[in-house]
Amino acid sequence: KSYRIAILGATGAVGKELLELLESRNFPLSDLRLLASQRSVGRKLQFKGEDLPVEVVSDRAFNNVDLVLASAGGATSKAWASIAVNAGAVVIDNSSAYRMNPEVPLVIPEVNPQAAANHKGIIANPNCTTILMAVAVWPLHCHQPVKRIVAATYQSASGAGALAMEEVKTQTSAILEGKQPTPSVFPYPLAFNLFPHNSPLNDLGYCEEEMKMVNETRKIFNNQQIKITATCVRVPVLRAHSEAINLEFESPFSAVEAKEILSRSPGVKLVEDWKANYFPMPIEATGRDEVLVGRIRSDISHECGLELWLCGDQIRKGAALNAVQIAELLVEKNLLQPAIAISQ
Ligand code: A2P
Repeated sequence: KSYRIAILGATGAVGKELLELLESRNFPLSDLRLLASQRSVGRKLQFKGEDLPVEVVSDRAFNNVDLVLASAGGATSKAWASIAVNAGAVVIDNSSAYRMNPEVPLVIPEVNPQAAANHKGIIANPNCTTILMAVAVWPLHCHQPVKRIVAATYQSASGAGALAMEEVKTQTSAILEGKQPTPSVFPYPLAFNLFPHNSPLNDLGYCEEEMKMVNETRKIFNNQQIKITATCVRVPVLRAHSEAINLEFESPFSAVEAKEILSRSPGVKLVEDWKANYFPMPIEATGRDEVLVGRIRSDISHECGLELWLCGDQIRKGAALNAVQIAELLVEKNLLQPAIAISQ
């Protein structure tokens, strides 16, 4: 079987990675439609050596499409997801629009693949920071339940899209030339700087990104009891996030055991050389599929605590790769019925 795919937001940072992954993972597709806004009409993108035209998204764009991989922001997903589902497609949505909807599974294939079976047309891809943390914490949580997670993030520009990545580059060279550039995508300069994540703040003083880590992790782990708190920070790194994570368990969890578990966990690569003080770095996580985890040590401030450090490619496992893995899961479990089968 092969499937007819549309990428909504094909010209974006995640969209381009989706194209690359569908090609490199040889996803069984018979047709590929590239959708974006009016701004991109006339552009062409390469897939398997062919130049494919970018089309403007429209009512008719989803006819004869089995699967839509959407990564064009929440408003665009809200506008088009149900139109695509009504046209017979399954939508894997990378935006936050449907993630907390109880009717919509929120899936990380290494963590909760079973949730995908309950989809009603839309499956949500979790927030990037949440995915990277969950992939590393889940295997430990399966061994012994986590009571509390305290996370601090060091997030790359890519989470804010292709234009934000460009802004960091141009800002960096402008500053090196002695100029003072005016930020446009981000509210503040990111080159040679960092700032707390600029998503909207709630009454408790937490930003949206931090609350995504709290609420999405609980939904994915299917556990509302876990206590989670986070401080999210944007750093001048192009496309891989880093996270410092403190875990508190019911009873002591040895670092040796945690390393042993993580060394055989799917989607994780243990990266530690204590003698060389060598641990995961965003530059080495870039372009890789695995979440790099290291600096696993007992928390000297709490007998049941564990500290770890991780880095993961935000565009890849944080977004496009996870979405393609969900698509592969749907194919494997026969949960992606071609529109032809639905209409018969
Ligand atoms: P376009 O390039 O035509 O603006 P990023 O996250 O890297 O900023 O990318 C966002 C993606 O979402 C781009 O492909 C962008 O297309 C697409 N997009 C943004 N707004 C819309 C819209 N209103 N309709 C369709 N696609 C959109």
